[in-house]
Formats: sequence, C-alpha cells, structure tokens
Amino acid sequence: MKGLILAGGTGSRLRPITHTGPKQLIPVANKPVLEYAVEDLREAGITDVGVVLGHKGREAIQAFLGDGSEFGVDVTYIVQGNPLGLAHAAGCAREFVGDDDFVMYLGDNLLNRGIGRLVEDFESGDYGASIALQGVDDPGAFGIAEVDEAGEVRRLVEKPDDPPSDLALIGIYVFSPAVFDAIEELEPSWRGELEITDAIQSLLDDGLAVRSHVVESWWKDTGKPGDVLEANRLVLSDIDPASEGTVEDGAETRGRIDTRDGAVVESGAVVRGPVSLGRDVTVKEGAYIGPYTSIGPNSTVADTHVENSVIIGDAEIDASERIVDSLVGSGATIASADDVLPDGQRLVVGANSDLKL
Ligand code: TTP
Repeated sequence: MKGLILAGGTGSRLRPITHTGPKQLIPVANKPVLEYAVEDLREAGITDVGVVLGHKGREAIQAFLGDGSEFGVDVTYIVQGNPLGLAHAAGCAREFVGDDDFVMYLGDNLLNRGIGRLVEDFESGDYGASIALQGVDDPGAFGIAEVDEAGEVRRLVEKPDDPPSDLALIGIYVFSPAVFDAIEELEPSWRGELEITDAIQSLLDDGLAVRSHVVESWWKDTGKPGDVLEANRLVLSDIDPASEGTVEDGAETRGRIDTRDGAVVESGAVVRGPVSLGRDVTVKEGAYIGPYTSIGPNSTVADTHVENSVIIGDAEIDASERIVDSLVGSGATIASADDVLPDGQRLVVGANSDLKL
C-alpha cells in the first residue's frame, strides 16, 4: 500500500494567507496540517508516500518535508501543475503508484483518529475503492454516498437536491490501481475539473465493489479561515502538551499550555489553556492569551488580549486590544494607532482579505 497526499490546489478561500505560502503548511497547534496527514499514513504502516504539488508553494513544501526521513517516510514528489481536479491530481501519480493499492489523502484535511480502520475495511474484501464518509447537516452542499446496510456503496451524487443520505465524502480514500483507467475516461465537470466522485462512480458502473467507512470522531477540512480555527480548537482540546519553554515566577497560567523551546511567559502575563506557544515566542507582561490560541515561532505579544486565534509566526502584536477568532499571517505587525486623529481604523489589508471591524 502506498500513500498519496494532494498538496497542490489554489487555496483561494484562504487568501491572503495563501499568497505567501501553501495552505497545507498552515500550522494547527504549531504543526503544519500536512504533517498530520504524513503521521496518519505512517501510523497505518504506509511509508512510501507520493506528494502531489501544484505551481505555487512547491519549494516550501519540499523544504519542509525533504526526503521524508525526518518524518519516518520516503517521499516522492509528483508535479501536477495547474489544479485540474482531484482525479487529475490522482492520475498524475499513476507511475508512482504502479500496481499497488493506495490511500489518497487531501493535504488540507485533518482526521482525529487516523486511517487504520479505513485501510482495514478496504483490505477486508475485494474492493475497487473504500471511501471515508461522515454525516453532515447540509448534504446538499457535498458529494453524497448512498450506502446499503452492509456498508457497500450503491451510488454517489454531487450536491444533490434530494439527498439519498446525509453521508458526505470526506477527503480520504483508498483505491486499487483500477481507478487510473477510470480517470483516463473522465470528462471535465461543469466546473472544468476531473472529479474524484465521477471516477468512483465509474468504478461502480464497471461492477467493482466500493466499500464505505463512516468516520465517527471529528474530521476537518481546513479550506477556509474559520475551519483553521476550528481545527486548532479540536487539536488543542486534547493536546498532550510539551513544556520546553519557561513560565516565569509571577506569570499566571492555567490549563494545558504547550510550550516549545525558547518560549517565555513573562512575569505579569496571563495564559489560559489550552494554548500552544511555538519556539521563541514571548508573552510579555500585561498580555493575556486565552483558550484555543496557537502562537507560531518567533512571535511577541505585549499588552494585548488574544483568544481563539492562530498566529502563524514571526508576528509582533502590541495593541491594547482584544484579538479574537483571528488568523494572522506570518510576519504580521499589529500595533495601536499612535495618535487618535483622524478617528478610525488604519489598515494595510492584503487583496481578498476578510475583515470584521
Ligand atoms: P480544494 O480545497 O478542493 O481546492 P483548492 O486547494 O484549490 O482550494 P480553493 O477551493 O480554496 O481554491 O483542494 C483539496 C486538497 O487537494 C488541497 O490540499 C489541494 C489539493 N488539490 C490538488 O492537489 N490538486 C487539485 O487539482 C485540486 C483541485 C486540489
């Protein structure tokens, strides 16, 4: 069994954060989303891992993963280029996969309990594919599977008006190499992409069995800023905290606080967990870091209240303000206006930003 992580795409819903880096490297609890996928594959015993890259962010992903040895896997890079759809991305990996079965994992997805059961279900019979599903409240917005009592998939429908179930396809699949012939026959959908749901439906049409696996614990697609914050909340909720940093006498801390090497909570600062403080983060006197916040490496927070937020790193925050529910890109500076006239917010806002004032 091989692994295939899709790390191309546009990341348009995460602009402007994705103007400067790929979304798969956005940290959740101070660990890039992509690393969670690599860990899930490795824990399922899969060490031969292909990583599909687009045009943007290629170098950053290669610099992070390298040859994979640091993460206990052997990485092969596959360049897709333009994001022509999930099935197109899979098709680019035909040579890498060869005659093996493979797990395809969307590189911006996070799964709480790993993929062991999904792989076991696939291996329990003679299947063309096994798909991970989860019940959703709004099935009309997803690719939906109709499944029989035995867990065999009958058909797939994309964003149905009259959904046959509430079971949505999430971003993790197991395929036999039969999927490559199905992909070669596909035509682009209305949105101009080769759709993986069409490839799976074509396996069904060809008489291959497709197994379903319903994921009961949480799963998160980190495609939008709110999803990154939600994933950060979920991961921090049961983080096993490191305590490599320093909490000075006179600092007030409560709850689980994950601190990496060189992080300092200074005397007079308040930190209420669950919180993750990255390498060389300084929380200065007068700052308050509230629950479900992750602050990335080399950042300093002074005088500011930060809660339920992800600060990616290298940030300087000194604002006498409350910053909540925020995703702050790397190298950001947030300061108080140094005079009060004219009254108003002074902003330098990147293209396609989303601000709530
Ligand atoms: P999506 O979130 O569906 O697409 P996107 O990354 O282009 O984002 P947006 O819609 O905001 O513009 O992609 C899911 C995952 O699959 C993500 O890790 C990127 C990857 N992907 C590819 O590698 N190639 C592709 O052609 C597509 C569409 C996605």
